Amino acid sequence: MVLVLEGNPWDVVDLRAKKAMTTRRAFLQTAAASGVLSTGIPRFAHGWDKLTINHGAATVHPLATRSAMRILQSGGNAIDAAISAALVLGVVDGHNSGIGGGCLVLIRTAKDQILAIDGRETAGQSAHEQMFVRDGKADPKLSQNGPLAAGVPSQIAAMKQMHTAAGRLPWKDLFADAKKAAFDGVLASKSIGRTIAAEADELRKYPASKEIYFHPDGSPIREGELLVQKDLASTLGNLAEQGADWFYQGPFAQSCENYLKSIGGILTAEDFRLYQPKLRTPIRTKYRSYEVIGFPPPSSGGIHIAQMLMMLEPYPIGVWMRSREDAYYHLLCEVMKRAFADRAHWLGDSDFVDVPAGLLDPQYAQDRMADFSSARASSNIDHGWPNGSSERELNSSEPAPGEDRKHTTHLTTADDEGNWVAMTCTVNTSWGSKVTVPGTGVMLNNQMDDFSISPGTPNAFGLIGSQSNAVAPGKRPLSSMSPTMVLDQSRQPILTAGAAGGPRIINATLQVLLRVLDGGCSVAEAVAAPRVHHQWRPDQLLFEDQIGVGTPWEITPAIRDRLTALGHPLKASGALAISQAIHRQSNRLEAAHDPRAHGSSEA
Ligand code: GLY
Repeated sequence: MVLVLEGNPWDVVDLRAKKAMTTRRAFLQTAAASGVLSTGIPRFAHGWDKLTINHGAATVHPLATRSAMRILQSGGNAIDAAISAALVLGVVDGHNSGIGGGCLVLIRTAKDQILAIDGRETAGQSAHEQMFVRDGKADPKLSQNGPLAAGVPSQIAAMKQMHTAAGRLPWKDLFADAKKAAFDGVLASKSIGRTIAAEADELRKYPASKEIYFHPDGSPIREGELLVQKDLASTLGNLAEQGADWFYQGPFAQSCENYLKSIGGILTAEDFRLYQPKLRTPIRTKYRSYEVIGFPPPSSGGIHIAQMLMMLEPYPIGVWMRSREDAYYHLLCEVMKRAFADRAHWLGDSDFVDVPAGLLDPQYAQDRMADFSSARASSNIDHGWPNGSSERELNSSEPAPGEDRKHTTHLTTADDEGNWVAMTCTVNTSWGSKVTVPGTGVMLNNQMDDFSISPGTPNAFGLIGSQSNAVAPGKRPLSSMSPTMVLDQSRQPILTAGAAGGPRIINATLQVLLRVLDGGCSVAEAVAAPRVHHQWRPDQLLFEDQIGVGTPWEITPAIRDRLTALGHPLKASGALAISQAIHRQSNRLEAAHDPRAHGSSEA
């Protein structure tokens, strides 16, 4: 729904109601209910020049999108809507995100503030660099599954901060849809069915996980079957009534400590008590006539999207995208390699390591491209030396390719007043640690695997890292989550995007931005168009061969042949990431969900 009212709206509503309406919000509700805004729009020469009713949401699940829209249409703002949608996603799409995990949130408020809320999980106080090493060798199974894999869950703390900073509806109202979905049950989606089956052996090890995700006869819940989560409903009810302290200072934290201790974990109630979300300084970059706002460390997304945009800016991206696709993808691949080499080397939690500010220097971006050749793929890219850097150890062994399943979730909301939210939530890989805390329905994340558990040991995404991203007590693992906003020259939001899919998030978000800002695509086209991904190690250029076939954006065999001739080691891939986005054009909002998943968007 996009409705634009020009002129003085007071003139078109019932004058008796006028007295009762003290806010613009109240007017909008009354006017919408009276049908004024959905029929002919009168224009007046005075009063508010342009009043736009513009709200929207996009998520990977129709129930979550509906929840966001319900909140937006019943007096809540975009912040309330995002919280409600994220809570619903934790119930209906719990293999990707949930209150046992974390999130990064970028908010543009109607008051023109940008809030970057870091709700990243942290390592417990007794975490240490050797915690995943057995017999002298790092064991990724320990960081990917089981009690050691979890960091302190942080989504609830981040939501509390979002709500305190800019929410409107009462906190408890935001839990209603999620609680109902958990209590009544929802039909398991295709990806719920697929991921329970794929992780069945690990899930079965933990009695509370087994009880939720399997039938009494031991068979897994399949697509289309009812998934009921009564314990989770009661946890959501406790959170609604008693607030975040119930989770961090009270019974939940204690249950978690007791259970994890009994199965070899290390998180304690004290770790929960110490957890704080952090308000970060967002990364702001000029790109053409826009300002692109990204999420800073512990995300790598903001820095590397900024860095890649700066490397790309001298080139005619929009023209190449449409008529010289080989040049476009060649250039993209080259900037991705350079950015991901820097990521592996320099990035980590900036509260623990110095992330060189020089990474964001436009001159550094140009220097990184000094050896770019339009005639051949580079074969020997290494990290650069931005200002403010000092050497760190990085084992340069070639990692195995990461798994290409999709994890995490990105959602976005915008309201009539100009509040916009980009929120990426995750338990890390599907079903996180696979450990559900008994009696709570809460599945804990496996975010510890996003640390570099030892030099040269790739994580689930095939990413390697340096000492910058080593495990330490209270430290936050490096993330690729990239909630991003774009402002126009009058500082108004025009685009927000983000994605799910491990390191592919960064490159997918970049490509959505480029399709809209340079390519002039609609946001739906931008989200749907096929994408490529290179993450420096291993040296392979992934491309989506089954996406966009027959559209102007298809990565055709002819384009692939030319990329191969340039020296790129191409590899066909399934869906590389799942992106949601909202775009505003001439005061009209368009929300888009990624057709690679079964989400929905409304505006
Ligand atoms: N767990 C995926 C990420 O944060 O990048």
